[in-house]
Amino acid sequence: MNVFEAIYTLRAIRRFRPDPVPPELIWRVLEAATMAPSGGNRQLWRFIVVQDRPLKEQIAQFYREGWDRLYGPIREQALADPNMAPIYRSAEHLAHHLAEVPVLILACLQTSPWPVSTSPPGSYIYPAVQNLLLAARALGLGTVLTTLYRVHEEEVRQLLGIPEGWETMALIPLGWPAQPFGPLRRIPVEEVTYWDRWGQKRKR
Ligand SMILES: Cc1cc2nc3c(=O)[nH]c(=O)nc-3n(C[C@H](O)[C@H](O)[C@H](O)COP(=O)(O)O)c2cc1C
Repeated sequence: MNVFEAIYTLRAIRRFRPDPVPPELIWRVLEAATMAPSGGNRQLWRFIVVQDRPLKEQIAQFYREGWDRLYGPIREQALADPNMAPIYRSAEHLAHHLAEVPVLILACLQTSPWPVSTSPPGSYIYPAVQNLLLAARALGLGTVLTTLYRVHEEEVRQLLGIPEGWETMALIPLGWPAQPFGPLRRIPVEEVTYWDRWGQKRKR
């Protein structure tokens, strides 16, 4: 699969088959992640692959609490909106079934001591996370970048023994998709691109 095909079909996958993911494929997507650029090539990242069921159950509970707290209150409103309803249903499904996803990957970043840098923390690790998502897509594996569990960041750090100075930046469920990849719905590039000055658009 060429890189554009992977990019253009990289849907958020939130429904997974229970089939296990072979270890060599887990290594492959993680190695792709570690090929990403980072400020000063510091590579201040670590990845935790969680497959142990009791650990996944605990993380899923933290995630579910994040979902309930942030999105529970807008359930009726979201389901009444034809644009929002499919995303809401899909995200709700994941929130209820996270522990069943074969692999959960936590992307961790050393944020303290923070290097002398103008770069905000996320910029040091999200290129690696995106590499991981694209590599998974190229292998036919589904992923979605998630952050809702972070309402319990401290508890997640304790559960997994993540040391001081490190924090989790994303949780990526990984598995064989039980829904189609793509197509993507995005704002057309002409609408989000300005030329020379803010607001100056061009036709393509
Ligand atoms: C920073 C960030 C945080 C996200 N957090 C969550 C999350 O906690 N749960 C979730 O289900 N999806 C999460 N997503 C996935 C987005 O909802 C998804 O990428 C977006 O709706 C586009 O979906 P599509 O590629 O299927 O069109 C997150 C995405 C990003 C980039």
